[in-house]
Amino acid sequence: MAIPKDLVIAIFVCAFSCSAALAARDLSDDSAMVARHEQWMAQYSRVYKDANEKAQRFEVFKANVKFIESFNAAVNRKFWLGVNQFADLTNEEFRATKTNKGFKPSSMKLPIGFRYENVSVDALPATIDWRTNGAGIVKISTGKLISLSEQELVDCDVHGEDQGCEGGLMDDAFKFIIKNGGLTTESSYPYAAADGKCKSGSNSAATIKGYEDVPANNEAALMKAVANQPVSVAVDGGDMTFQFYSGGVMTGSCAFLPH
Ligand SMILES: *[C@@H]1O[C@H](CO)[C@@H](O)[C@H](O)[C@H]1NC(C)=O
Repeated sequence: MAIPKDLVIAIFVCAFSCSAALAARDLSDDSAMVARHEQWMAQYSRVYKDANEKAQRFEVFKANVKFIESFNAAVNRKFWLGVNQFADLTNEEFRATKTNKGFKPSSMKLPIGFRYENVSVDALPATIDWRTNGAGIVKISTGKLISLSEQELVDCDVHGEDQGCEGGLMDDAFKFIIKNGGLTTESSYPYAAADGKCKSGSNSAATIKGYEDVPANNEAALMKAVANQPVSVAVDGGDMTFQFYSGGVMTGSCAFLPH
């Protein structure tokens, strides 16, 4: 079958001009993105060692901005993302450097038994807000609301699994508190947001005798526990939606914890 020559030319011209137009659009998209990257670098005082690193970081930045924008464009989302200080890091880098590096699955034996096992789910309140009820197990058992020292945990609970700013688990922290004979007050050992040397000899302001884990994968058990006392939770902060979280109520699925 013979194809008319002018049609071939027309198709060729069209293909050529279309791809030229696409290339031009790519280029202008890219130059807008380059400007955005420059502006972002200025905003976060980011300096790269050479043009090579800058080009690599630009590609990461571009991919992250596209991810953030397409996430935010989705309908029915309950939370949104922003181009923040982590926008030139891959998610692997973010996980490796900004999230819980110290996590190791605990080898210790968990206490067994669940103290609220016989509580009836039907008898639970529809909502409970421990902030308005005076949060804290110490308040519930003693009537006194005491702000306890996080920094004592950060600085002193470092001889087991927990590693201060590099992460830890609440079960290990509870174990430390029992062994330590309690925790001191926030005001006598204030939060420094950095690893520090353990100040020994702190006066204990409150202590615990034990702790329990809520049975796993059991929402009814979690409801029973939360209705009776505040419950500690651990969250995987390594997901891309955490990397760029900006506002709203995070919905997403529960991810895998070791990050
Ligand atoms: C729950 O009820 C069972 C059966 O009466 C009893 O054996 C168990 O000790 C109760 N658990 C708690 C935590 O009170």
